[in-house]
Amino acid sequence: MKNSRFTYAEIDLSAVVYNYKLLCAQAGAGVALLAVVKANAYGHGAVAVSRALAEAGAPMFAVASIEEGIELRAAGIEQPILVMGVVLPGQEGLLIEHRLTPYLFDLATARRLSAAAAERGTAVGYHLKVNTGMSRIGFDPVDLPQVLSLLKTFTGLQMQGVMSHFALADAPNDPFTHEQVGRFHRIIESIHAAGFTPQYIHQANSAGILTGVARDSNLARPGIALYGGLPSDAFAALDLRPVMSLRSAIMQIRTVAKGVGVSYGHQFVAGRQSRIAIVQIGYADGYNRLLSDRGEALVCGERVPVVGRVCMDWIMLDVTDVSGAQVGSEVTLLGSDTDGNLIRAEEWGAKIGTINYEVFCGISRRVPRIYKEQGSF
Ligand SMILES: Cc1ncc(COP(=O)(O)O)c(C=O)c1O
Repeated sequence: MKNSRFTYAEIDLSAVVYNYKLLCAQAGAGVALLAVVKANAYGHGAVAVSRALAEAGAPMFAVASIEEGIELRAAGIEQPILVMGVVLPGQEGLLIEHRLTPYLFDLATARRLSAAAAERGTAVGYHLKVNTGMSRIGFDPVDLPQVLSLLKTFTGLQMQGVMSHFALADAPNDPFTHEQVGRFHRIIESIHAAGFTPQYIHQANSAGILTGVARDSNLARPGIALYGGLPSDAFAALDLRPVMSLRSAIMQIRTVAKGVGVSYGHQFVAGRQSRIAIVQIGYADGYNRLLSDRGEALVCGERVPVVGRVCMDWIMLDVTDVSGAQVGSEVTLLGSDTDGNLIRAEEWGAKIGTINYEVFCGISRRVPRIYKEQGSF
Protein backbone atom coordinates (compact mmCIF):
# COMPACT_ATOMS: atom_id res chain seq x y z
CA MET A 1 0.00 0.00 0.00
CA LYS A 2 1.26 3.48 -0.86
CA ASN A 3 2.27 5.55 2.14
CA SER A 4 -0.44 8.18 2.69
CA ARG A 5 1.83 10.44 4.70
CA PHE A 6 4.25 12.98 3.32
CA THR A 7 6.65 12.86 6.25
CA TYR A 8 9.96 11.10 5.77
CA ALA A 9 13.57 11.19 6.90
CA GLU A 10 16.06 11.42 4.07
CA ILE A 11 19.30 9.65 5.01
CA ASP A 12 22.39 10.67 3.09
CA LEU A 13 24.57 7.54 3.10
CA SER A 14 27.40 9.31 1.31
CA ALA A 15 27.55 11.72 4.28
CA VAL A 16 27.88 8.74 6.65
CA VAL A 17 30.78 7.42 4.60
CA TYR A 18 32.33 10.90 4.45
CA ASN A 19 32.11 11.22 8.25
CA TYR A 20 33.54 7.71 8.69
CA LYS A 21 36.58 8.60 6.58
CA LEU A 22 37.06 11.88 8.44
CA LEU A 23 36.98 9.95 11.73
CA CYS A 24 39.46 7.36 10.39
CA ALA A 25 41.87 10.21 9.60
CA GLN A 26 41.34 11.76 13.05
CA ALA A 27 41.78 8.44 14.86
CA GLY A 28 45.17 8.00 13.26
CA ALA A 29 47.05 5.08 11.73
CA GLY A 30 46.73 1.87 13.68
CA VAL A 31 43.32 2.72 15.18
CA ALA A 32 40.46 0.90 13.47
CA LEU A 33 36.88 2.10 13.88
CA LEU A 34 34.10 0.00 15.30
CA ALA A 35 30.97 1.72 13.98
CA VAL A 36 28.31 2.14 16.67
CA VAL A 37 24.99 1.39 14.96
CA LYS A 38 22.95 0.63 18.07
CA ALA A 39 19.41 1.98 18.43
CA ASN A 40 18.77 1.57 14.70
CA ALA A 41 21.95 3.55 13.97
CA TYR A 42 20.76 6.39 16.20
CA GLY A 43 17.52 6.44 14.24
CA HIS A 44 19.16 6.48 10.82
CA GLY A 45 18.48 2.83 9.94
CA ALA A 46 21.01 0.23 11.10
CA VAL A 47 20.86 -2.04 8.07
CA ALA A 48 21.39 0.63 5.40
CA VAL A 49 24.02 2.49 7.44
CA SER A 50 25.93 -0.73 8.22
CA ARG A 51 25.86 -1.84 4.60
CA ALA A 52 27.21 1.53 3.46
CA LEU A 53 29.94 1.46 6.11
CA ALA A 54 30.84 -2.17 5.42
CA GLU A 55 31.31 -1.27 1.78
CA ALA A 56 33.51 1.66 2.85
CA GLY A 57 35.70 -0.77 4.81
CA ALA A 58 34.35 -0.58 8.38
CA PRO A 59 35.81 -3.68 10.06
CA MET A 60 33.38 -4.07 12.98
CA PHE A 61 30.00 -2.92 14.30
CA ALA A 62 28.48 -2.39 17.74
CA VAL A 63 24.85 -2.79 18.75
CA ALA A 64 22.98 -2.68 22.06
CA SER A 65 21.19 -6.03 22.05
CA ILE A 66 21.21 -9.51 20.59
CA GLU A 67 18.10 -8.59 18.57
CA GLU A 68 19.90 -5.65 16.97
CA GLY A 69 22.82 -7.95 16.13
CA ILE A 70 20.57 -10.57 14.57
CA GLU A 71 18.94 -7.88 12.41
CA LEU A 72 22.36 -7.04 10.96
CA ARG A 73 23.28 -10.69 10.41
CA ALA A 74 19.94 -11.25 8.62
CA ALA A 75 20.82 -8.29 6.38
CA GLY A 76 24.08 -9.94 5.39
CA ILE A 77 26.54 -8.04 7.57
CA GLU A 78 29.43 -10.47 8.02
CA GLN A 79 31.86 -8.33 10.03
CA PRO A 80 32.24 -8.97 13.78
CA ILE A 81 29.35 -7.46 15.77
CA LEU A 82 29.92 -6.42 19.38
CA VAL A 83 26.81 -6.57 21.56
CA MET A 84 27.06 -3.79 24.14
CA GLY A 85 24.17 -5.08 26.20
CA VAL A 86 23.00 -8.04 28.21
CA VAL A 87 22.82 -11.72 27.31
CA LEU A 88 19.81 -13.02 29.20
CA PRO A 89 19.69 -16.60 30.50
CA GLY A 90 18.53 -18.69 27.54
CA GLN A 91 19.98 -16.35 24.89
CA GLU A 92 23.47 -17.90 24.87
CA GLY A 93 22.64 -20.21 21.92
CA LEU A 94 21.26 -17.30 19.89
CA LEU A 95 24.42 -15.29 20.47
CA ILE A 96 26.66 -18.20 19.42
CA GLU A 97 24.52 -19.19 16.44
CA HIS A 98 24.67 -15.64 15.06
CA ARG A 99 28.40 -15.24 15.75
CA LEU A 100 27.84 -12.18 17.95
CA THR A 101 30.54 -10.94 20.33
CA PRO A 102 29.35 -10.04 23.83
CA TYR A 103 30.94 -7.54 26.13
CA LEU A 104 31.22 -8.98 29.61
CA PHE A 105 30.62 -7.06 32.82
CA ASP A 106 29.52 -9.81 35.21
CA LEU A 107 30.64 -13.29 36.10
CA ALA A 108 27.22 -14.92 36.02
CA THR A 109 26.91 -14.18 32.28
CA ALA A 110 30.50 -15.30 31.74
CA ARG A 111 29.78 -18.63 33.43
CA ARG A 112 26.62 -19.24 31.38
CA LEU A 113 28.26 -18.31 28.10
CA SER A 114 31.28 -20.46 28.79
CA ALA A 115 29.09 -23.47 29.56
CA ALA A 116 26.95 -22.93 26.44
CA ALA A 117 30.03 -22.61 24.24
CA ALA A 118 31.74 -25.65 25.77
CA GLU A 119 28.55 -27.68 25.20
CA ARG A 120 28.77 -26.78 21.51
CA GLY A 121 32.49 -27.52 21.36
CA THR A 122 33.37 -23.90 20.64
CA ALA A 123 34.66 -20.82 22.46
CA VAL A 124 32.97 -17.42 22.61
CA GLY A 125 35.19 -14.42 21.97
CA TYR A 126 34.32 -11.52 24.27
CA HIS A 127 35.40 -8.00 25.15
CA LEU A 128 35.96 -7.34 28.85
CA LYS A 129 34.18 -4.15 29.94
CA VAL A 130 36.00 -2.28 32.69
CA ASN A 131 35.09 0.87 34.57
CA THR A 132 37.71 3.61 34.52
CA GLY A 133 35.50 6.48 35.71
CA MET A 134 32.20 6.43 33.81
CA SER A 135 30.78 4.51 36.78
CA ARG A 136 28.27 2.82 34.53
CA ILE A 137 28.42 -0.83 33.47
CA GLY A 138 31.66 -2.80 33.77
CA PHE A 139 34.01 -4.53 36.20
CA ASP A 140 35.75 -2.32 38.73
CA PRO A 141 39.58 -2.40 38.69
CA VAL A 142 39.68 -3.47 42.33
CA ASP A 143 37.79 -6.68 41.47
CA LEU A 144 39.90 -7.54 38.44
CA PRO A 145 42.45 -9.90 40.06
CA GLN A 146 39.67 -12.20 41.22
CA VAL A 147 37.65 -11.76 37.99
CA LEU A 148 40.64 -12.56 35.79
CA SER A 149 41.56 -15.67 37.72
CA LEU A 150 37.99 -16.94 37.40
CA LEU A 151 37.78 -16.03 33.70
CA LYS A 152 40.86 -18.20 33.16
CA THR A 153 38.94 -21.23 34.32
CA PHE A 154 36.09 -20.63 31.83
CA THR A 155 37.29 -22.75 28.95
CA GLY A 156 34.40 -21.77 26.69
CA LEU A 157 35.50 -18.11 26.66
CA GLN A 158 38.28 -16.30 24.90
CA MET A 159 39.17 -12.68 25.70
CA GLN A 160 39.36 -10.82 22.39
CA GLY A 161 39.18 -7.26 23.63
CA VAL A 162 39.27 -4.97 26.63
CA MET A 163 37.18 -1.82 26.62
CA SER A 164 36.19 1.11 28.76
CA HIS A 165 34.19 4.30 28.16
CA PHE A 166 34.93 8.00 28.64
CA ALA A 167 32.65 10.11 30.80
CA LEU A 168 33.88 13.59 29.90
CA ALA A 169 35.57 13.38 26.50
CA ASP A 170 33.06 15.86 25.05
CA ALA A 171 34.69 18.52 27.28
CA PRO A 172 38.09 18.41 25.55
CA ASN A 173 39.99 20.31 28.24
CA ASP A 174 38.78 18.28 31.15
CA PRO A 175 41.75 16.46 32.73
CA PHE A 176 39.56 13.55 33.83
CA THR A 177 39.80 11.98 30.37
CA HIS A 178 43.57 11.68 30.80
CA GLU A 179 42.99 10.22 34.24
CA GLN A 180 40.77 7.58 32.60
CA VAL A 181 43.42 6.90 29.94
CA GLY A 182 46.01 6.33 32.72
CA ARG A 183 43.69 4.01 34.62
CA PHE A 184 42.95 2.06 31.43
CA HIS A 185 46.68 1.63 30.74
CA ARG A 186 47.25 0.21 34.18
CA ILE A 187 44.33 -2.18 33.71
CA ILE A 188 45.69 -3.38 30.36
CA GLU A 189 49.07 -4.00 31.98
CA SER A 190 47.48 -6.09 34.71
CA ILE A 191 45.48 -8.05 32.13
CA HIS A 192 48.66 -8.83 30.20
CA ALA A 193 50.42 -9.74 33.42
CA ALA A 194 47.61 -12.19 34.18
CA GLY A 195 48.41 -13.97 30.92
CA PHE A 196 45.64 -12.68 28.62
CA THR A 197 46.46 -11.38 25.15
CA PRO A 198 43.42 -9.39 23.99
CA GLN A 199 43.64 -8.33 20.37
CA TYR A 200 41.54 -5.16 20.74
CA ILE A 201 41.98 -2.32 23.22
CA HIS A 202 39.38 0.47 23.06
CA GLN A 203 38.02 3.30 25.12
CA ALA A 204 37.19 6.25 22.81
CA ASN A 205 33.80 7.41 21.58
CA SER A 206 33.45 10.13 18.89
CA ALA A 207 34.66 12.87 21.24
CA GLY A 208 37.66 10.77 22.29
CA ILE A 209 38.64 10.23 18.65
CA LEU A 210 38.29 13.92 17.83
CA THR A 211 40.40 14.99 20.81
CA GLY A 212 43.17 12.51 19.98
CA VAL A 213 42.87 10.25 23.02
CA ALA A 214 42.10 7.15 20.95
CA ARG A 215 45.64 7.04 19.68
CA ASP A 216 47.08 4.64 22.24
CA SER A 217 44.34 2.07 21.59
CA ASN A 218 43.91 0.05 18.42
CA LEU A 219 40.14 0.40 18.12
CA ALA A 220 37.67 3.24 18.76
CA ARG A 221 33.89 3.40 18.82
CA PRO A 222 32.33 6.41 17.07
CA GLY A 223 28.59 6.84 17.08
CA ILE A 224 27.20 10.38 16.95
CA ALA A 225 29.92 11.79 14.67
CA LEU A 226 29.16 9.14 12.02
CA TYR A 227 25.72 10.73 11.80
CA GLY A 228 27.14 14.23 11.51
CA GLY A 229 26.26 15.10 15.10
CA LEU A 230 28.68 17.11 17.20
CA PRO A 231 29.57 15.40 20.49
CA SER A 232 29.36 18.91 21.98
CA ASP A 233 29.71 22.55 20.88
CA ALA A 234 33.47 22.24 21.39
CA PHE A 235 33.60 20.40 18.04
CA ALA A 236 31.64 22.93 15.98
CA ALA A 237 34.63 23.74 13.75
CA LEU A 238 34.78 20.20 12.36
CA ASP A 239 33.44 19.45 8.90
CA LEU A 240 31.03 16.70 9.94
CA ARG A 241 28.16 16.31 7.48
CA PRO A 242 24.59 16.00 8.78
CA VAL A 243 23.08 12.76 7.56
CA MET A 244 19.38 13.01 8.37
CA SER A 245 16.96 15.54 6.88
CA LEU A 246 13.43 15.34 8.20
CA ARG A 247 10.86 16.53 5.70
CA SER A 248 7.15 16.90 5.33
CA ALA A 249 4.75 19.06 3.33
CA ILE A 250 2.08 21.70 3.75
CA MET A 251 -1.37 20.10 3.63
CA GLN A 252 -3.49 23.22 4.08
CA ILE A 253 -3.06 26.96 4.41
CA ARG A 254 -5.49 28.92 6.54
CA THR A 255 -5.70 32.69 6.74
CA VAL A 256 -6.52 33.78 10.28
CA ALA A 257 -7.48 37.27 11.42
CA LYS A 258 -5.60 39.15 14.11
CA GLY A 259 -6.65 37.84 17.54
CA VAL A 260 -7.48 34.28 16.38
CA GLY A 261 -6.02 31.43 18.48
CA VAL A 262 -4.24 28.51 16.83
CA SER A 263 -4.02 24.85 18.00
CA TYR A 264 -4.77 23.31 21.42
CA GLY A 265 -5.07 25.78 24.25
CA HIS A 266 -4.79 28.75 21.88
CA GLN A 267 -1.26 29.18 23.22
CA PHE A 268 -0.57 31.18 20.03
CA VAL A 269 -2.85 34.07 19.13
CA ALA A 270 -2.23 35.79 15.78
CA GLY A 271 -0.87 39.28 16.30
CA ARG A 272 -1.75 40.21 12.71
CA GLN A 273 -3.68 38.66 9.85
CA SER A 274 -1.58 35.55 9.21
CA ARG A 275 -1.18 32.67 6.78
CA ILE A 276 -0.89 29.52 8.85
CA ALA A 277 0.45 26.40 7.12
CA ILE A 278 -0.68 23.03 8.47
CA VAL A 279 2.13 20.49 8.14
CA GLN A 280 1.83 16.74 8.40
CA ILE A 281 4.18 15.98 11.28
CA GLY A 282 3.69 15.80 15.02
CA TYR A 283 5.00 14.40 18.25
CA ALA A 284 4.09 10.86 17.15
CA ASP A 285 6.81 11.29 14.52
CA GLY A 286 9.31 12.55 17.09
CA TYR A 287 8.67 16.24 16.53
CA ASN A 288 8.94 17.05 20.20
CA ARG A 289 6.00 18.85 21.80
CA LEU A 290 8.44 21.17 23.58
CA LEU A 291 9.00 22.73 20.14
CA SER A 292 5.52 24.31 20.42
CA ASP A 293 5.94 28.04 19.66
CA ARG A 294 9.73 27.45 19.60
CA GLY A 295 10.67 25.30 16.63
CA GLU A 296 11.57 26.59 13.19
CA ALA A 297 11.26 25.04 9.76
CA LEU A 298 12.53 25.75 6.26
CA VAL A 299 9.91 26.56 3.61
CA CYS A 300 10.83 27.86 0.14
CA GLY A 301 14.33 28.68 1.43
CA GLU A 302 13.03 30.74 4.38
CA ARG A 303 13.08 30.01 8.12
CA VAL A 304 9.60 30.18 9.58
CA PRO A 305 8.36 29.70 13.17
CA VAL A 306 6.23 26.90 14.56
CA VAL A 307 3.15 28.54 16.06
CA GLY A 308 0.87 27.03 18.68
CA ARG A 309 1.11 23.61 20.28
CA VAL A 310 2.63 20.69 18.41
CA CYS A 311 -0.10 18.05 18.02
CA MET A 312 0.27 14.28 17.60
CA ASP A 313 0.13 14.44 13.79
CA TRP A 314 0.28 18.13 12.87
CA ILE A 315 2.19 21.32 13.40
CA MET A 316 1.38 24.85 12.33
CA LEU A 317 3.84 27.28 10.74
CA ASP A 318 3.47 31.01 10.23
CA VAL A 319 4.16 31.45 6.50
CA THR A 320 2.69 34.95 6.22
CA ASP A 321 5.98 36.32 4.88
CA VAL A 322 6.69 33.44 2.49
CA SER A 323 4.71 34.27 -0.62
CA GLY A 324 5.70 31.06 -2.41
CA ALA A 325 4.37 28.77 0.33
CA GLN A 326 1.39 26.77 -0.87
CA VAL A 327 -0.33 23.43 -0.33
CA GLY A 328 2.22 20.78 -1.27
CA SER A 329 5.29 22.92 -0.53
CA GLU A 330 8.10 20.92 1.01
CA VAL A 331 8.96 21.63 4.65
CA THR A 332 12.33 20.74 6.20
CA LEU A 333 12.24 20.33 9.95
CA LEU A 334 15.75 19.02 10.46
CA GLY A 335 18.80 18.88 8.24
CA SER A 336 19.28 20.78 5.00
CA ASP A 337 16.92 21.99 2.31
CA THR A 338 17.74 22.18 -1.39
CA ASP A 339 19.00 25.79 -0.95
CA GLY A 340 21.64 24.63 1.52
CA ASN A 341 19.92 26.10 4.60
CA LEU A 342 20.41 23.91 7.63
CA ILE A 343 18.64 23.14 10.89
CA ARG A 344 20.98 21.09 13.04
CA ALA A 345 19.84 18.54 15.62
CA GLU A 346 21.98 20.50 18.09
CA GLU A 347 19.71 23.51 17.53
CA TRP A 348 16.55 21.49 18.33
CA GLY A 349 18.29 19.99 21.31
CA ALA A 350 19.27 23.36 22.74
CA LYS A 351 15.68 24.62 22.35
CA ILE A 352 14.13 21.76 24.26
CA GLY A 353 16.86 21.00 26.77
CA THR A 354 18.26 17.82 25.30
CA ILE A 355 21.09 16.57 23.08
CA ASN A 356 21.33 15.76 19.38
CA TYR A 357 21.54 12.04 20.24
CA GLU A 358 18.02 12.11 21.66
CA VAL A 359 16.69 14.16 18.75
CA PHE A 360 17.89 11.54 16.24
CA CYS A 361 16.80 8.55 18.32
CA GLY A 362 13.41 10.17 18.87
CA ILE A 363 12.39 10.19 15.19
CA SER A 364 9.82 7.44 15.41
CA ARG A 365 9.41 4.24 13.45
CA ARG A 366 6.36 5.74 11.73
CA VAL A 367 8.66 7.98 9.69
CA PRO A 368 9.97 6.12 6.64
CA ARG A 369 13.71 6.40 6.08
CA ILE A 370 14.49 7.17 2.44
CA TYR A 371 18.09 6.51 1.49
CA LYS A 372 20.00 8.87 -0.68
CA GLU A 373 22.96 7.00 -2.14
CA GLN A 374 25.90 8.71 -3.71
CA GLY A 375 24.76 10.22 -7.00
CA SER A 376 21.11 9.19 -6.70
CA PHE A 377 17.84 10.66 -5.36
C1 LIG B 1 29.87 2.01 25.15
C2 LIG B 1 29.71 3.05 24.10
N1 LIG B 1 30.67 3.21 23.20
C3 LIG B 1 30.58 4.14 22.22
C4 LIG B 1 29.48 4.94 22.11
C5 LIG B 1 29.41 5.98 21.02
O1 LIG B 1 29.47 7.25 21.59
P1 LIG B 1 29.31 8.56 20.69
O2 LIG B 1 27.96 8.44 20.06
O3 LIG B 1 29.39 9.67 21.65
O4 LIG B 1 30.41 8.53 19.70
C6 LIG B 1 28.44 4.81 23.03
C7 LIG B 1 27.27 5.68 22.92
O5 LIG B 1 26.37 5.75 23.65
C8 LIG B 1 28.55 3.83 24.06
O6 LIG B 1 27.60 3.67 24.97
